[in-house]
Amino acid sequence: MSLVGGIRLMGAYGEKGCVVTGLFVVFEGADGTGKSTQVAAVADALRHSGKEVVVTREPGGSDVAETLRALVLDPATQIDDMTETLIFAAARADHVAKTIVPALDSGKVVLSDRFVGSSIAYQSAGRGLSEDAVAEINHYATGGLNPDLTVVLDLDPAVAGVRRDDRGDMIDRMEAAPDGFQETVRGSFLAQVQAAPDRHLLVPAAQAPETITSQILTHLETTYGVKL
Ligand code: TYD
Repeated sequence: MSLVGGIRLMGAYGEKGCVVTGLFVVFEGADGTGKSTQVAAVADALRHSGKEVVVTREPGGSDVAETLRALVLDPATQIDDMTETLIFAAARADHVAKTIVPALDSGKVVLSDRFVGSSIAYQSAGRGLSEDAVAEINHYATGGLNPDLTVVLDLDPAVAGVRRDDRGDMIDRMEAAPDGFQETVRGSFLAQVQAAPDRHLLVPAAQAPETITSQILTHLETTYGVKL
């Protein structure tokens, strides 16, 4: 099912008979793989060729979701694993309802830094919750909305760790997870690509940023018919 031709959402959205027609592209990867840089570069290129583009992120992307982001990433907060999963899903439900669906509905391209794949990687593979449970909670939260394409940026966690240190950002609650967590997260993203290769693009993230951007744009052009 391709979103270029319009996808039909299930669950809450389906009951309203909502059909969305834009293009929904998600960027995933462990921390420090360069997602934000690629989201910005791809957005620039698409806007340059006249597309209407909405850039957004998770957790966040709407007022309520940004408030939940501050809570769930606060290193001073202790949150049990199921609660964490539900907070990410609650933020996502608001993000989908307020930001993503309205934009897709008006034919825009939505580029999101993270989506459901992150909950599968971090809450299921990372924290150890059942993958079926995390998938089901998120199916509910999103009304069954799936990205047209998920770009997975793949990088050795040791290299990604150095990049994170160089950035000098504050370590958030998720990044404070024990040794081996980022490797597990990486493994989950690779497994997600293998399970649905037609909906994913795996990109080695140790390459030059411009090379990565052009690989993503070429894929959008050749596989999704995006004119650049
Ligand atoms: P992100 O904003 O990508 O972090 P940064 O900007 O610091 O690179 O994501 C914040 C953290 O939240 C990141 O460690 C991944 C985690 N996360 C989950 O654990 N589950 C989720 O569903 C999402 C969306 C993010």
